[in-house]
Amino acid sequence: MSAHGPWGPLPLPAFLQRRAFSKTRTKGLQLDDVNPHVRNAQYAVRGELAIKSEQYRAQLHRGEGKQLPFDSVISANIGNPQQLDQQPITFFRQVASLLENPLLLEKEDVLKNSLGYKPDVIQRARKLLDDVKSVGAYSQSQGAPGIRQSVAEFIERRDGYTADPANIYLCAGASSGVNALMTVICATPQTGILVPIPQYPLYTATLSLLNAQLVPYYLDESRNWGTSVESIKTALQEAKGRGVDVRAVVVINPGNPTGGSLIAEDITAVLEMAAQEKLVVLADEVYQTNVFEGKFLSFKKCLRDLQKSKKNSDGRFDNVELASLHSISKGMIGECGHRGGYYEMVGFDPEVVAQIYKFVSIMLCAPVIGQCFVEMMVNPPREGEPSYQLYKKEYDTIYQNLHDRARALYAAFRDMEGVECQNPQGAMYLFPKVRLPRKAIDAAKKAGKSPDDFYCLEMLDATGICTVPGSGFGQEEGTFHFRTTFLAPGVDWVDRIAEFHKKFMDQHR
Ligand SMILES: Cc1ncc(COP(=O)(O)O)c(C=O)c1O
Repeated sequence: MSAHGPWGPLPLPAFLQRRAFSKTRTKGLQLDDVNPHVRNAQYAVRGELAIKSEQYRAQLHRGEGKQLPFDSVISANIGNPQQLDQQPITFFRQVASLLENPLLLEKEDVLKNSLGYKPDVIQRARKLLDDVKSVGAYSQSQGAPGIRQSVAEFIERRDGYTADPANIYLCAGASSGVNALMTVICATPQTGILVPIPQYPLYTATLSLLNAQLVPYYLDESRNWGTSVESIKTALQEAKGRGVDVRAVVVINPGNPTGGSLIAEDITAVLEMAAQEKLVVLADEVYQTNVFEGKFLSFKKCLRDLQKSKKNSDGRFDNVELASLHSISKGMIGECGHRGGYYEMVGFDPEVVAQIYKFVSIMLCAPVIGQCFVEMMVNPPREGEPSYQLYKKEYDTIYQNLHDRARALYAAFRDMEGVECQNPQGAMYLFPKVRLPRKAIDAAKKAGKSPDDFYCLEMLDATGICTVPGSGFGQEEGTFHFRTTFLAPGVDWVDRIAEFHKKFMDQHR
């Protein structure tokens, strides 16, 4: 097949030649045809180990796998609370049931007297339905106005500074917010975004998809995975030297996979640096209620404090561009399957905001039921209201269980030979460093695996516990880590890890 021009045959573009002349082609779309940026994107949290663990789980479920050295699979690889038996909070689900089936509201007596629905559940469902009309209808692109108002009031209560509902965007989980913001920021293949290492791989994967530049900066493991501005500045200078046009800095607080929670000085230092270097700050605060030490401090509060302080006498912090994200997926709500979240944008140029608005309108709107969960998360039952007692009991129990398991895992890691682990401060993860013996590193090489992959695979094969190797999040060259959640019920599985580790070290000594 060829095309003809006035001077004879014309060469076909490579992609047409591949399509026209390939004898082996059976499909219109083969791997080679797929967008290379999609092919290159990596997302370890659901990678090889997760797939193998699902195969083990299916085997055990079918009553096979008697030869396996474990009788259950523990998915400690992903922060998916309700898959790991975290119970949904009753108030949220009761309201959701009425939103999904408003006909039930015509039977208030049955709801109250037979099903134990409290009056505030019914009131909340009516209020939300007033705002969205039906959870089966599209909302405004930015999200239902009444829900954005509730989010603004929540931010105001949390930070002590006003928030404007016009600056709030409801989204299908924080992931879709990050996607919208990064898509708008990543203008050219030379655009760069500073991302902490280790990081939640959404950021590196999205940069790959957008064909933009990852500018990694390292967190300080010796300071409980703190954010060091020096390390950000070094990464920034190095990237500028390579001709990268750095436009934004991502901070995850509390951290995934590190569990670290930032102190005010670190947050302020990032904001000062952002003001000086004209960088957009993307503050991923999805773990803001999973804090075990100290108190969560938002970037927004620190920015407003800074703007009010003497340091701002010349107005240098007035124009800092900050987007802060929150989600219904984590915390004690854990409704990640409902896909809800929001981001608040302050300090952005209105023309840029218009482009973000256009981008989100192309996606129409976030799932409306997810938006309603956002409203309930930011405006839960208050003291004195009929559902409060049960809500508080459920919330506190989940929090306490998470904290207990975090401590049990931490204590076990501290006792393991060659393992170093930072004190659990927040989020849902521990990220211990393992000093692997030379023989283990050689065995990994022989198996064609990186040493941390090898260690985690051996752990899965021996215990049924699925974790994620540190390389999936990034780690300093020559160090090996793995990430485990502390969501799985009970603490006895922690002993399985300790036993495996001892055997592994003995075997490779
Ligand atoms: C730091 C961080 N940001 C964002 C997300 C995505 O959350 P969502 O379910 O709201 O999209 C996760 C999920 O694990 C996360 O750990």
